[in-house]
Amino acid sequence: MLWLVHHLLLKFPPEFAHQVAVCFLKIYQYILPKSFVLSQTKVLSIKIKGLDALKFPNRLGLAAGFDKNAECFASLSRVGFGFIEVGTVTPLPQTGNPKPRLWRVAPQGLINQMGFNNCGVEEFKKNILHFRSRCIVPILANIGKNKSTSNESALKDYQQLFKELENEVDGFVINLSSPNTEGLRDLQSVEFLEKLEAIAPSKAIWVKLAPDLSQEALTELLEKIRSSSKLTGCVLTNTSRKIALEQYQRMEGGYSGTKLFETSLERVGWAAEILKGEKTLVAIGGVDSTERALKMRRAGADLVEVYTAFVYQGAKFVKTVASALAD
Ligand SMILES: Cc1cc2nc3c(=O)[nH]c(=O)nc-3n(C[C@H](O)[C@H](O)[C@H](O)COP(=O)(O)O)c2cc1C
Repeated sequence: MLWLVHHLLLKFPPEFAHQVAVCFLKIYQYILPKSFVLSQTKVLSIKIKGLDALKFPNRLGLAAGFDKNAECFASLSRVGFGFIEVGTVTPLPQTGNPKPRLWRVAPQGLINQMGFNNCGVEEFKKNILHFRSRCIVPILANIGKNKSTSNESALKDYQQLFKELENEVDGFVINLSSPNTEGLRDLQSVEFLEKLEAIAPSKAIWVKLAPDLSQEALTELLEKIRSSSKLTGCVLTNTSRKIALEQYQRMEGGYSGTKLFETSLERVGWAAEILKGEKTLVAIGGVDSTERALKMRRAGADLVEVYTAFVYQGAKFVKTVASALAD
């Protein structure tokens, strides 16, 4: 049944298919008893360094952008993910960029220029409170600034989001790397990380970085993260502007999927060398098989996330990869 629904959805335009999938998962949230688990993997408790209280049932998470409004994370937790990133949420609601803004590209890739379409933190918080008790894994809120907020005022947006959500989620991912909000990636600086440290709550906090940063720029940021007492680690990587432009001739948007893997893997390797196991490294980008997930682990990733491969391969993929990572 699930297989059929998934197969049919891939025949529809991508954003419409996504909306139907979210709707379907939302309904599941209401009808599933708390004990029902679609595909349970072997339970594995992972203690994240410095955060004894935060435990993941397995190492495979769902990346940000799938459940932007925190509407269906409880259903997604039953699909077999070990943790779920909800968002990116911004302080105020946003409609995002005009449609069409999401395309499938071969092989097993997506190009998106969504632009942080989301319901805003007020509604988002209500959703978290409503569905939290049905969710069986840690929830991380991915947070970003509004399009209308200048970079000079961006810190206030992050501060508001920390304040509104710190008691509702298990941790935060600070998104500084989406290519679809003008100027956002300029906040990937040591100076801005220092400002964030000063306002960060006592929670697990990861920083999500772009794959298109130079090795030098990434090294500087990672060294800052390593020496920080507030930051838990980093999420590598977001979508790639460079691949969208150079391999698909797209003037806007970020690429995700199969072709991102080598870039992300390389950056995870660099990060593992710099962080030296002192911080938690979350790897993402083009993980579309068990083999690739294991490569990320061998490169030094503590946790692995997926987005595009889940869209193309569905729930069975989650079960297989989560089990492989647990062994
Ligand atoms: C349609 C779409 C929307 C996304 N939205 C977000 C987002 O809101 N915030 C974010 O940090 N990343 C977002 N991402 C990026 C993913 O979280 C992930 O970093 C990227 O897709 C690479 O992983 P993948 O190759 O497994 O898809 C989005 C990706 C896609 C395809």
